[in-house]
Amino acid sequence: MSKTAQSNHTTQAAPVKTDSDTVLEVDGLRTYFRTHEGEVRAVDGVSFKMKRGSILAIVGESGCGKSVTAYSILRLIQPPGKIVGGRVTLRPVGEEPIEITALGEKDERLYHVRGGLAAMIFQEPMSALSPVHTVGNQIMEAIFIHQKVTKQQAQQLAEEMLSKVGIPNAAVRLKQYPHELSGGMRQRVVIAMALVCRPQLLIADEPTTALDVTIQAQIMQLMKGLQSELGTGVMLITHDLGVVAQLAEEVAVMYLGRIVEKGSMRTIIKKPRHPYTMALLQSLPSLHARNQKLPSIKGSVPALTRIPSGCPFHPRCEHAQAGRCDVGGPPPLEQLDPDGVGHEVACLRVHEIGPTLKAQAPS
Ligand SMILES: Nc1ncnc2c1ncn2[C@@H]1O[C@H](COP(=O)(O)OP(=O)(O)OP(=O)(O)O)[C@@H](O)[C@H]1O
Ligand SMILES: [Mg+2]
Repeated sequence: MSKTAQSNHTTQAAPVKTDSDTVLEVDGLRTYFRTHEGEVRAVDGVSFKMKRGSILAIVGESGCGKSVTAYSILRLIQPPGKIVGGRVTLRPVGEEPIEITALGEKDERLYHVRGGLAAMIFQEPMSALSPVHTVGNQIMEAIFIHQKVTKQQAQQLAEEMLSKVGIPNAAVRLKQYPHELSGGMRQRVVIAMALVCRPQLLIADEPTTALDVTIQAQIMQLMKGLQSELGTGVMLITHDLGVVAQLAEEVAVMYLGRIVEKGSMRTIIKKPRHPYTMALLQSLPSLHARNQKLPSIKGSVPALTRIPSGCPFHPRCEHAQAGRCDVGGPPPLEQLDPDGVGHEVACLRVHEIGPTLKAQAPS
């Protein structure tokens, strides 16, 4: 499929009433790769729910399984990778839920999901755009795949969407080729292509990493605006919690293929309880004075073929206890507030460590 999945679903009408406020449910997802070095458990038992029209951030250091999670949701994993367990269910408004992981490779509902209900934006905008076609033709092609409209209507939709993503002189830009646009503009075009058919789920995998900081902030604000206007659920993947702190309502922190902490953004940045989340927050540039040396997380992410016993984070954790944190399997996620907002942490020592970052976290 093309790098940007599109939607036909398109419904310009008001959302149909639904009995569930969940747009996506991921339950025990496991995606492994067979390599010469052994089995790589890139995603190993990931579960989360996304509320309709909300923004969920997936954060974690490089190699912790964020992209593999995203690709698995849209069933874009290629050999030697394979989804070996778990379930992904999309709950589109006004339609029967679709269990994506149960669909055959040729099932047309899979195309309906990938090309219709869900869209994905990738890190490098040029990889999603063809250099030999005009921006307008590419957006229109995305429209034609799933919508029965005339050329004139498609052109109008494309122009409207380009204006919506903040591209001035949209009519002129439609006739240009990607190389005639700046990096920030190209990423806006990619976002326009992803959203032109109004998907119910948008997965944005590091959508601003290739851009400079001011453009990053603009693109993030743009996504937030469009998300609330179109009611799209957005999964925002990033290694930088600072970039999404103001945008996402919920966060899942991943480490070595697992979610180690999840909760509301407010809870996670004000009262993180997993030592890994605390370390991620402490290494945010925004927390430190300009000339101050940035603390980095001790050690580096181990290879997925050599995942430490016990809590996988224990070799890097300043709170780890020998004979306790380094034995057995990974600790399960524990619900910290059974009646409340859903703060879950996978740390054996969570009740002993307590929140320690309160005073330093960004607001
Ligand atoms: N094609 C592949 N073959 C073998 N292993 C792979 C393959 N793709 C991914 N992996 C493994 O899955 C792990 C997780 O990869 P993933 O791309 O999800 O990381 P990420 O969290 O998105 O990192 P980044 O922040 O760098 O994008 C990698 O460390 C790698 O070991
Ligand atoms: Mg990635």
